[in-house]
Amino acid sequence: MSPLRSSEWFQGDDEVAVLHRVAVRAAGLVLDPSEARPVIGIANSASDLNPCNLPLTALASVVADGVRAAGGIPMVFGVMSLGEDLMKPSAMLYRNLLSIEVEEYLRSYPLDGVVLLANCDKSVPGAIMGAVSADLPTLVVTAGARPVAEFKGRRVGTGTDLWRAWDDHRSGVISDEEWNAFEACLACGVGSCNTMGTASSMAIVTELLGLALPGSATIPADDPARAASARAAGERIVAMVSDDVRPSAILDDRAFRNAVVGLHAVGGSTNVVLHLLAIAGRTGASLTLDDVGRLGRGVPVVADVEPSGTYLIQEFDEAGGVPALVRELAACFELDAPTASGRTWQEESADAWSTGPAILGRAVPLASDGAFAVLRGSLAPGGALLKTSAASGELFSHRGPALVFRSYAEMRERIDDPALPVTADTVLVLSGAGPVAVPGMPEWGQIPIPTRLAAEGVRDMVRITDARMSGTSYGTCVLHVAPEAGVGGPLALVEDGDPIVLDVAAGTLDLDVADAELARRRAAWTPPVSPHLRGWPALYQKHVTQADLGCDLDFLRGTTAQERRFVPPVIGRS
Ligand code: FES
Repeated sequence: MSPLRSSEWFQGDDEVAVLHRVAVRAAGLVLDPSEARPVIGIANSASDLNPCNLPLTALASVVADGVRAAGGIPMVFGVMSLGEDLMKPSAMLYRNLLSIEVEEYLRSYPLDGVVLLANCDKSVPGAIMGAVSADLPTLVVTAGARPVAEFKGRRVGTGTDLWRAWDDHRSGVISDEEWNAFEACLACGVGSCNTMGTASSMAIVTELLGLALPGSATIPADDPARAASARAAGERIVAMVSDDVRPSAILDDRAFRNAVVGLHAVGGSTNVVLHLLAIAGRTGASLTLDDVGRLGRGVPVVADVEPSGTYLIQEFDEAGGVPALVRELAACFELDAPTASGRTWQEESADAWSTGPAILGRAVPLASDGAFAVLRGSLAPGGALLKTSAASGELFSHRGPALVFRSYAEMRERIDDPALPVTADTVLVLSGAGPVAVPGMPEWGQIPIPTRLAAEGVRDMVRITDARMSGTSYGTCVLHVAPEAGVGGPLALVEDGDPIVLDVAAGTLDLDVADAELARRRAAWTPPVSPHLRGWPALYQKHVTQADLGCDLDFLRGTTAQERRFVPPVIGRS
């Protein structure tokens, strides 16, 4: 075992080492200066403000037990909790702030490794981004999906079924009484959304990256196996410190390719594409937005889970979870890549046959060519993303006139207007909702079907935006258009009636307006004035990258070893 980083704080007999040992003795921990033991940080993002992360409160002590059993010293510390539902304008605004917090905790304290306790959508990628930049041995423990609600004898998936019910309520299919009863049944317990939303997709991708123990990603929050897995993570991180297994040794191009293939195969959240690009931007990996589209070709979407399919995460876990997915699609994954257990995916998936209906056979998938299409063209020169597995195939080749909403507030105000000039062929455009504009690129991209059309039975339309959408959402929503309108991207120039052409097979998204007219509009365009003059939102707006780079801050990315260099603190008297 190489010398422990924490020994620089705790070993020795000078006044500085004594000061440090006294600091932990005050908390009841007596360190033997002659015996160095790994100090493991347990970064806990549990919070009453975030019900998705609440189960982490109990899991923290279980992880600590595992650390102690393996001979390590657990140190639990709290980090900010990013709750998707309650944080406004979006938890995404704070993902990068969490990453900074985690990185700086790891830089400044005497830690040899870290277990990241996170669950809700942005908590997991934010914590990973920070730990990857610090490059200390790292494991992620998630909390699992919440129990399943039932309404009128039918299982209700988080998010997806709410959006469907809302459309039905607005169009009169669901009465006020039914709507109220539906609300009452939705609060069914703590844990993450139980559809293939961002949290579950991100947990699956984290396991595929090699940052969470195999089989752990989809264990439900109320399953005792969740605690057993957390204890195993506590034991494993001590061994990882002994063997000096750092993220930089795990997160190579293979790991990212496996993660992207897995994201396609489960019909995962579009948000995770942003997170993978952001994590890759903290490493030497070469992943690009175009790779995300390319790697999906020929990948069967076999997870029959909402919103692309029928079942919920509980059934996906019963079918064998990620190891069974890898076994089913062995030809699509790079099986020599390491898992967090230290074994390869070949070894971890060898006996993991899928055993339930939520993982389909590769011969009978939901879709055969991946779950996402990356689009480029005159309307999205920096790229855009469509979740094809949850969209309507009949709209994949579409030409229609634009109806433009320049803000979320305008869209909400007008969408139910019976006089709104729309037909089913109209392309709804929401601009001014990108990473810089709001800021944080909220999940506003599933623009509701205008009430008049919904009442006529229209259930999907082409929608285009520089915003994101929830992983639980669905529909032919072209998202993450880059560059966004707020920085002068072409989306800012679209006017009502402009023809927009979507061709998914060709991978294109175009605005069919003459160059001279666009030049005239550009000359008249003025950038929006931000109300944020101070604090985090102002810093974020100044430095956030566009969606094709994952919306990280420019000064946090680092693709060369020099840019990624972790500068340790000077250890002396404070
Ligand atoms: Fe937290 Fe879905 S809102 S996981």
